[in-house]
Amino acid sequence: MDNNYVRIFDTTLRDGEQSPGASLDAAEKLEIARQLARLGVDIIEAGFPAASPGDADAVRRISQEVGNSRDGSRTPIIAGLARANKPDINTAWESVRHAAHPRIHTFLATSDIHLKYKLKMTREQVIERVREAVSYARSLCEDIEFSPEDAGRSDPEYLCDVLEVAIKAGATTLNIPDTVGYTTPEEFGALIDGLIKNTPGADKVTWSVHCHDDLGMATANTLAGVKAGARQVEVTMNGIGERAGNTSLEEVVMALHTRPAVFGLQTNIDTTQIARTSRLVSNYTSIPVQPNKAIVGANAFAHEAGIHQDGMLKHQMTYEIMRPETVGVAQSNLVLGKHSGRHAFQTRMKEMGYQLDEKDLNQAFHRFKELADKKKVVTDADLSALIADEFYQPPEIFALEDIQVTCGRHGMPTATVMLRGPNDQKSVHAAVGTGPVDAAYKAIDAIVQAPNTLLEFSVHAVTEGIDALGEVTVRLQSHEPEPRVLGGHGADVDIIVASAKAYLAALNKLVAGNRDAAALYLKQVFAEGSNNGNGT
Ligand code: KIV
Ligand code: ZN
Repeated sequence: MDNNYVRIFDTTLRDGEQSPGASLDAAEKLEIARQLARLGVDIIEAGFPAASPGDADAVRRISQEVGNSRDGSRTPIIAGLARANKPDINTAWESVRHAAHPRIHTFLATSDIHLKYKLKMTREQVIERVREAVSYARSLCEDIEFSPEDAGRSDPEYLCDVLEVAIKAGATTLNIPDTVGYTTPEEFGALIDGLIKNTPGADKVTWSVHCHDDLGMATANTLAGVKAGARQVEVTMNGIGERAGNTSLEEVVMALHTRPAVFGLQTNIDTTQIARTSRLVSNYTSIPVQPNKAIVGANAFAHEAGIHQDGMLKHQMTYEIMRPETVGVAQSNLVLGKHSGRHAFQTRMKEMGYQLDEKDLNQAFHRFKELADKKKVVTDADLSALIADEFYQPPEIFALEDIQVTCGRHGMPTATVMLRGPNDQKSVHAAVGTGPVDAAYKAIDAIVQAPNTLLEFSVHAVTEGIDALGEVTVRLQSHEPEPRVLGGHGADVDIIVASAKAYLAALNKLVAGNRDAAALYLKQVFAEGSNNGNGT
C-alpha cells in the first residue's frame, strides 16, 4: 500500500451512535452509510452487531447494499465490532460477510485498571484471549482489526507483547485507542512511534489510531499518531461519539488537505461532500453542530470583524485558509426566490449534491415555493434545512395537520393541534401551557399518549433576518417500556410549527421503536375514537 495514503475509517455509525440520544434506526443508518460511501471513506464501521438484533440487521443491510455498491469512487470495506469472544465474532461475521470487503473488528482492554476492575483477568489471560479471538476471527474473515482498549493508559511494553500475539494470530490492522481521551499529542505520538518500532511483525500490518476528545485533544492526538506512522485514522462526522466524542473526520481530513507541506499525505475523501454529510448526520442523530465548530459550523466561514471583512474584500487569502466550496459549503451567485422556476431549483439541488428522484423533486419544489412565498430570498442554507425537514425524518406515524396558538403577556397561552394518525384519521386537542410551545406539546401529548420527559429544546435561525427559517431540535426520554433518549428536528418559518414538527419527529421514533406498544396505543387513540376530530 502507498505509504503516503491515510485510510479513513469512519465510526459514526458505531462509536458515533454511542453519543447519548443518538440512536439511529436501520433506514437512517443505511442512508448515512450511502453518504459516507459518496464521501469516499475507506472503511465504514457500521455497528456493533452483538449489541442488539436491530444493530445486526442494520450492519447486514449496509453490507449488502453499500458494501457492494460503487456510490463513491470505490466500494468501502464494511466493519462490524465484536468483543473478543466467539459469539460476538460470529454475530459480527454474519452481519458483515455479505459485503464485497468485510472486516471484523475485535477488541479487548489492556490497561491494568481495566484488567483489575472490569475484566478481572491477568495480563497472561488477556494475551491468551487475544490469541484465541483473533485467530478465530481470522478463520472466518481475511481482514481483521484488533484494538487494545484503553491503550492510552496501558503499559507500552505489555502492549507490544499483546500486539505481537495479535499479528501472529492473523490481525491485519492494529488500532490503538485513547479510549478515555487522556493522552497529550506528544505522549500519543511517542506511543505510536514506540509500538511501531518495538512490536515484532509491525511492518506486516496497518497501524491505526482512535482518539476520544475528553480533553479536547482528539484531532491533535490523531495527527500526532499519523506523523508517527499510523496510516488509518478512526473518526466520526462532526466528532460525535461516546462522552465528549471522537476525533472529527472533517478536522483530520482538512488538516491533511490544507497543510500538505506538513503532512505530505493523501486521503480518498471528496471534500465537497463534507458539509452535506455533516448535515445528514446532525439531522438524523438530532445532535446540532455548534456554530463555531471547525470546518462544518455555521460560522466556520463567516467574517464578522470590520478589519477581517476589509481584508477579505481585498484578498480572500488574508483571512481564509480554505475555500468554503472545498468542503461543500456552496457559495452560489444564484439567488432563488418566488419567481424561480423548477429548472433553476433542480439545478441548484444538483449543485448542492442532492440526487432527488422525480417524486422527491416535486415534493421539494412544492416546499420551496411555499417558503419563497414567505421569504424574499431563499439561500442554500434554507434549502438544506428544507430538505432535511422534508426527507431526513423518521416514518410519520403522526403528522402535523394544523396548529393554532394564542399567546401574550397576560393571557393563557393556548394551542390547538390537529394530527393525522394511521389510516389518515385526524385528531384534535387544545391545551393551555406556560407558553405557546409548552401548550402545543401538551396538546400533542394528549393525542399521542407516549409518556416522556423533554430533556432539551433548542431553536436557531438558519439565516439572518426576521423572515429566517427556524430550525428546532428536541431530545426527550421515553418512560416505557424502558427509558430511551430520542431526538427530533423540524424547520419552518414559524417556530411554533417547527417546534411541533421536531417534537412529533422524536415521538414518531418513540412510537415506532416498540411496534407492539405502538400498535396498542394507536388502537386506543384512534380506533376507539378518543378525540377523533372532536376536540376537547
Ligand atoms: O474507544 C475505544 O476504545 C473503542 C474501541 C472499541 C476501539 O471504541
Ligand atoms: Zn471509541
